[in-house]
Amino acid sequence: MKQHAGWALPDLKAAQIRTKQESPVYREQFILNEELRALGKGKYYFLRTYGCQANERDGESIAGILEMMGFTQTKNAEDADLILLNTCAVRKNAEDKALGELGSLKRLCKEKPNLIFGMCGCMAQEEEIVRTVVEKYPHVDLIFGTHNIHSLPKLLYQVMMSHERSIEVFSKEGEIVENLPVKRFGVYKAWVNIMYGCDKFCTYCIVPYTRGKERSRTMTDVLSEVQTLKKQGYKEVTLLGQNVNSYGKDLHLEGGFARLLEECAKTGIPRIRFMTSHPWDFSNEMIEVIARYDNIMPFIHLPVQSGDNDILKIMGRRYTIEQYKALFDALRNKIPHCAFSTDIIVGFPNESEEQFQHTLDLVEYCHFDNAYTFIYSPREGTPAARMSDNVAMAVKQDRLQRLNEVVNRHANERNAAYLHRIVKVLVDGPSKKNPNIYSGYTETNKLVNFANEGAKSGDIISVRITACKTWSLDGEVVKEK
Ligand code: 5AD
Ligand code: SF4
Repeated sequence: MKQHAGWALPDLKAAQIRTKQESPVYREQFILNEELRALGKGKYYFLRTYGCQANERDGESIAGILEMMGFTQTKNAEDADLILLNTCAVRKNAEDKALGELGSLKRLCKEKPNLIFGMCGCMAQEEEIVRTVVEKYPHVDLIFGTHNIHSLPKLLYQVMMSHERSIEVFSKEGEIVENLPVKRFGVYKAWVNIMYGCDKFCTYCIVPYTRGKERSRTMTDVLSEVQTLKKQGYKEVTLLGQNVNSYGKDLHLEGGFARLLEECAKTGIPRIRFMTSHPWDFSNEMIEVIARYDNIMPFIHLPVQSGDNDILKIMGRRYTIEQYKALFDALRNKIPHCAFSTDIIVGFPNESEEQFQHTLDLVEYCHFDNAYTFIYSPREGTPAARMSDNVAMAVKQDRLQRLNEVVNRHANERNAAYLHRIVKVLVDGPSKKNPNIYSGYTETNKLVNFANEGAKSGDIISVRITACKTWSLDGEVVKEK
């Protein structure tokens, strides 16, 4: 690959280094000079975000920065002067989608020679991807990584002034940058980062390489964000981290995530969610706090990944199925109305039929409300990608299908139990197809559709469930007396 003197390129080896050093925190106000503030005046940006909530939240900071630079958002790539794809690297199909879109949007460059094309997010942290984009996608002018979001104004300026490609991807443990601008896409629901990165290094996963080490925001910073959101009228916050249970370990914070969760609950914001929990360090204190506060939602995403102890070991998950079940039982006993979802990977290298059966057994045991199921996808640079694999793709696909049948059956059963119940729904707004039908989510994160009778987006209302489907419920508004 031809390199340019100003480029900083990703390095997967460097990305796996973890030191004991404290992560720097930058608290300076994000200030732009007049020239940068005017750079986007009269220009439109199109931002597409793929992948997880961490990426969604990054997208909100990117949008905030671009609007500070004078850009206006458009939902239409055809109208854009700047196209940015905020990408996901967790599986190959996510990458293929983004590369496909990079390719298909290329046609717009012919009509608009000054169009700027950018790629950011987790794929920008991957050596192989950046090499491919540099060589095969010459229309991409700008690449920046997950640690480089705050450099966006400088990088855009370089591209716009020099008309040359600009790449800045740091492969490092990372820092915490407070006070980045943010354009929240939700009006009543907001994402709140409580920590960044991941140190678990599950052997299949690219995230610890693309997002750096686990680093927690201070409790004061998180709580003041939640309080501000509450004042602004937000009804729900979702506390975000790859592993929220590890919150505060790097700060030696006594009480860890349980304490943060409790303090968030005490702010009185109506709804608090959190994700994702790793079964390994889910503490009893956390269970107690979730059970104690009505504004902590009874819905837990608890990825199990596999139901087989040997596979879990090779995955580096640090728990056994017996431990997972014990945690699951403890949660169900303490919070009987709690709903659960999970993530499961089938077709991990050399997974036998018997080992897959163990996964089916586990799913039968838990009866999840929902499960996100995936075929294992090798990720360059991870230990699992170096393992030989004797499982044919057709076998993996068959396992996925068999697993999904069980998952769907349970989802259906769990929803069926809601018939005639009255549930609290946070109203999102009218559905796209029918403006009279509104939708929202229950405390247990079930999607409910109902004929609206005067409810507004952001209201929390009572709805009686009249019909249950696998992935949603229908209901009617219960009139308050
Ligand atoms: N292949 C398939 N699924 C993966 N996940 C993470 N890495 C991979 C991979 N290499 C899944 C896990 C994780 C979810 C976010 O994505 O189930 O919990
Ligand atoms: Fe990936 Fe495991 Fe970290 Fe989750 S805990 S982000 S699966 S390495």
